[in-house]
Amino acid sequence: MDGRTNTIFGWTLFGGVVALGLSSISGHIFDAERPENLGYVIEGVEEEGGAEGPSLAMLLSTADVAKGEAVFAKCVACHTIEQGGPNGIGPNLYAIMGKPIGKHAAGFAYSSALSSHGGDWDFANMDAWLTSPRNFANGTKMSFAGLGNPEDRANVIAYLNSMGSNLPLPEVEAAPAEEAGEIDAVDEPTTVSTEASDASAGTYPEVAADTDTTAPVGE
Ligand code: HEC
Repeated sequence: MDGRTNTIFGWTLFGGVVALGLSSISGHIFDAERPENLGYVIEGVEEEGGAEGPSLAMLLSTADVAKGEAVFAKCVACHTIEQGGPNGIGPNLYAIMGKPIGKHAAGFAYSSALSSHGGDWDFANMDAWLTSPRNFANGTKMSFAGLGNPEDRANVIAYLNSMGSNLPLPEVEAAPAEEAGEIDAVDEPTTVSTEASDASAGTYPEVAADTDTTAPVGE
C-alpha cells in the first residue's frame, strides 16, 4: 500500500466518521422533539354535563309564598285550598304536603293511577308531579300540562306547604353554599373595603341610617 492510497483511505474513513457523527447528533435532536405520547389526551370531557340548575332544596330555601299564591291561580279552576274547602274537579289541597299520594281528600274519586302510586307528597314528589302530572302518574285525571319553570314550582310548593302543612324545608347541600355567597356578593360594590368584609358573610351593610330623614313618619 503506497502513501496515496493510505491518504485516500484515511480521508474516506474520516468522512464516514464525520457523517456518522452528524447523523447521530441530528438523530438526538429529532428524538428530543418527538412527543412521548403519540395521539392526544382529551382532558375535562367527563366534567362536562354537570351544569344543572340549582337544586330543589336551594330553590325552596329562597321560595316566595306570595309568588306561589300567584302561580296557584293556574290551579283554582279545579282546586280549593282553604281548610274544609270542597272538592272540585280536583281534590281540596289543604295540608296536602306530607300526606299520602292520592288518598288525602275524603270523598274524592282519585284515578287509580294516582291512588296506587304510593309514597307521600314530600318536596321531591310534589316537584316531579307538578313538572309533569302525566309522567309522574300515567293515567292521572289531572289534565294539567305541568309547570316548566323550576322557580314557579318551588314557589307554589312553598305556598302549598304554608297552607296547613308547614313541613320543614329540606337541607340545602353544602356544595351550592358557595353560589349563595356569590349571590350575596352581587349586592356589594366591587370596592369592598376591609371593614366591609363582614358584609360578604351575610350581614347587610347598614342601610337604615338615612331612613329617618326620608320617611315621612307621623305626617
Ligand atoms: C284541569 C283541572 C286541574 C288543574 C288546572 C290542576 N289540577 Fe291538580 N288535580 C286535578 C285532578 C282531577 C286531580 C286528581 C288526579 C287523579 O286522581 O289522578 C288533581 C290532583 C292534584 C294533587 C294530588 C292531591 C292528592 O290528594 O293527592 C295535587 C297536589 C294537585 N292536583 C296540585 C295541583 C296544582 C298545584 C295545580 C296548579 C299548578 C293543579 N293541581 C292544577 C285537577 C287539576
